[in-house]
Amino acid sequence: MSKFQAPKGVSEYFPQRSAHFEFVRATLIESAKLSGYQLIELPVFEDTELFTRGVGESTDVVSKEMYTFEDRGGRSITLRPEGTAGVMRSVIEHNLDRGQLPVKVWYSGQFFRAERPQAGRYRQFYQVGIEAIGLNDPEIDAEVIAVAHNAFVKLGLKDYHLEITSLGDSLTRERYTKDLRQYITTLALDEATFERSALNPLRLFDDKREEIRALMQKAPVLMDYLTPESAEHFSQVQRTLKALGIEFTINNRMVRGLDYYTGTAFEFVHHRLGAQSGIGGGGRYDGLMSALGGAELSGIGFGLGVDRILLACEAEEISLPQDAALQLFIVPIDEAAKAIAMQTAQNLRTNGFSVDIAYGDRALKGGMKAADKSGARYAMVLGENEISTGSAQLKNMQTGESISVTLRTLQDELAQLIKLI
Ligand code: HAM
Repeated sequence: MSKFQAPKGVSEYFPQRSAHFEFVRATLIESAKLSGYQLIELPVFEDTELFTRGVGESTDVVSKEMYTFEDRGGRSITLRPEGTAGVMRSVIEHNLDRGQLPVKVWYSGQFFRAERPQAGRYRQFYQVGIEAIGLNDPEIDAEVIAVAHNAFVKLGLKDYHLEITSLGDSLTRERYTKDLRQYITTLALDEATFERSALNPLRLFDDKREEIRALMQKAPVLMDYLTPESAEHFSQVQRTLKALGIEFTINNRMVRGLDYYTGTAFEFVHHRLGAQSGIGGGGRYDGLMSALGGAELSGIGFGLGVDRILLACEAEEISLPQDAALQLFIVPIDEAAKAIAMQTAQNLRTNGFSVDIAYGDRALKGGMKAADKSGARYAMVLGENEISTGSAQLKNMQTGESISVTLRTLQDELAQLIKLI
C-alpha cells in the first residue's frame, strides 16, 4: 500500500517546531486577553450562505476557494474560510449584542481556503483573531491595531510595517463606486473581469495581472471621496496611533480580500516572506451584522496568520523558547522496578512535576541514552538494589553529578533541587 500523505497544501506542526508554533500563538492570544478580549469558540463549519452573504460573492474566497459540501441531511456546509462571519452569527444567535457593548472576543483555530499552495499560503492555516462589536469609536480601531502591534513587539519582530486606509461609510462608497464604475466602462476588459467588476468594482484593484494593474493606476481613489464624518474618524485613528507610538503608512489603494469592510482597514506586511507577506489584517465592517439579520451594530477586528508569523520569526532568526525541560527521567531496569517507576511517576505527575520513563525493556545503557535524549534535568535509575535500600542516585544531566535520594521523600528532594537551579 502506498504511504499516506497529508492533503496538499496544509500546514502541520510537530516537535520541535510545534513548541515554537504554540509559543507564537500563545503570545498573540495573550495580547488580546491583556486588552479585555474573551474567548469565543466556534464550529469550523457553517451554513454556506453565511459566507456567501457575509464575505461576499465577488471575492476570490467565496467564488473560488471555499471547501463546500453537502452534508448527510442535504444541507450545504462550508469549512470556515475566515472567522468574522461566524462570530457575527454567534453574537446574533446568542443575543450578545443585547448586553454590554462593545462585545470583545478572541478566537484561534484552523481556517480553510482552496488556494494554490506555496510557501506561506496553505489550504488549512491558522489564525488568531479578535472582534470588537457594537461601538463605532476610532479609539477602538486604534486598540485593535495595538493588540496586533503589541504581540509583534513581544515576539521581537522588527522587519514589517503597518498599512492603514479608510474605505469610508456607505455614502462615501456610493459616490465613489459610481465614479469607479464610470471609469471601468472606459476600459477594454474581458468579459469575466467585467462581470467581476459588476459585482464589486473594487475587486479590480486586487487583480494580479500587470495590464489590469496598470489600467487601475489611473482609477479614482476612494480616499478622495471620504465624507467629513469618515475623514474625521480616520484622522482620529491616526492621531491615536501616533500618540501610542505605533508607526504606519497610508495605502490608499489597499483592497482587502473580503467584501464586508467599511471605514478603517489595515494590514501588517512582513518584508522577508516573499509573495505571501501579509501577516495579519482587518478592519471595520459596519454593515455586516445587519446584513446577517442582526442589529445595526458596527464592528472591527483582525485575523493574524499564525503560520506566517512563525515564518517571519524564523526569517528574523528570533530565538523562540522550546518546551520546558522534563524534570525527571526514570530508568527502570527490571520488571519490579518498572512497576515502582510507574507509581513514582504517577505520584510526581499528579503533584505537578514533569516526569517520563524509559519504556520498553531496555538495558541500563539504552535507558540512559533515552534519558539523555529526553533533555530531562535529572535521571534516576531504578533496579533491585534501589528498591531494596529505598534510596537511589539522582543524576544531574547537565553536570553529570549524582546525589543520593530517599525514594520515600523523593518529591521534596526533587522540589528542593529544582528550586536550586
Ligand atoms: P484575511 O486578511 O483574509 O482576513 O486573513 C488574515 C490573515 O490570515 C492574513 O493576513 C494571513 O496572515 C492569514 N492567511 C490568510 N489566508 C492564508 C493562507 N491561505 N495561508 C496562510 N495564511 C493565510 C480575515 O480573514 C478577516 N476575517 C480578518 C478580520 C477579522 N477582519 C475583521 N475581523
